[in-house]
Amino acid sequence: MIAIKSKEEIKVMREGGKILAGILEKLRENVKPGKSAQELDKLARELVFSSGARPSFLGYAPNGRGEGYPAALCVSVNDEIVHGIPEKNKIIFEGDLVKLDMGVEHKKMHTDATVMVGVGKIPKVAEKIMKVTEECLYLGIGAIAPGKKISDYARAVESHAQICGFSVVRDLVGHGVGYSVHEPPQVLNYFHKKLGNIVLKVGMTLALEPMINEGGYEIYLADDGWTYKTLDGKLNGHWEHTVAVTKDGCEVLTEIRN
Ligand code: MF3
Ligand code: CO
Repeated sequence: MIAIKSKEEIKVMREGGKILAGILEKLRENVKPGKSAQELDKLARELVFSSGARPSFLGYAPNGRGEGYPAALCVSVNDEIVHGIPEKNKIIFEGDLVKLDMGVEHKKMHTDATVMVGVGKIPKVAEKIMKVTEECLYLGIGAIAPGKKISDYARAVESHAQICGFSVVRDLVGHGVGYSVHEPPQVLNYFHKKLGNIVLKVGMTLALEPMINEGGYEIYLADDGWTYKTLDGKLNGHWEHTVAVTKDGCEVLTEIRN
């Protein structure tokens, strides 16, 4: 069952989304060579608690796994796709492509978003994957409207990635979001018949998160049990927004200022 949120509930998620976007903007400014991912997580915790919200991921155990996630922020660098743990010894270097993924729980409702940052001068291909991933997300967002299908979103993302010479991660997907971080439906970023015929309706709230690989789409789970990485060690781009389906299309609840 895909939950439909009321105007009131979407208002709460809009407030949470603003808090989250503001935190990601500040975190992004703090991504500098020599910084550790742990310092970014510390700042993320300070910012979220001082806003009165709480970090959705801290202690969260997706798919009923045993222990919860140990931080507020996911910091995934270069070939790391998602759920990079902000360890003390994870140091940021010039040339890195850094993805900051965070969820915020505000008045019992969650929003989820990711920004990408290039550190100093980054390789051409990193520039390109950052740009293409953002374009994929916004082309996908353009395909979200009542009466449209999730497969319309998926095709929009996948075709742009492919035209640009990149591949779409298949084993990780976007999701509904609201009273839980992960709610139905699964939002694949590529066309597959298992998407079925899910039709979008006003009041659905989704975390859209294309994960685009420079090389092959295959991934693996690293030894830390959390971090997903590209199998071929090439770069990954990940960009994410929480959106609400509205009568005219959709509203991005976690819009970040440039
Ligand atoms: N944004 C992540 C996702 O949608 C959520 C991470 S939860 C964590 O998969 F616990 F793994 F951090
Ligand atoms: Co997500």
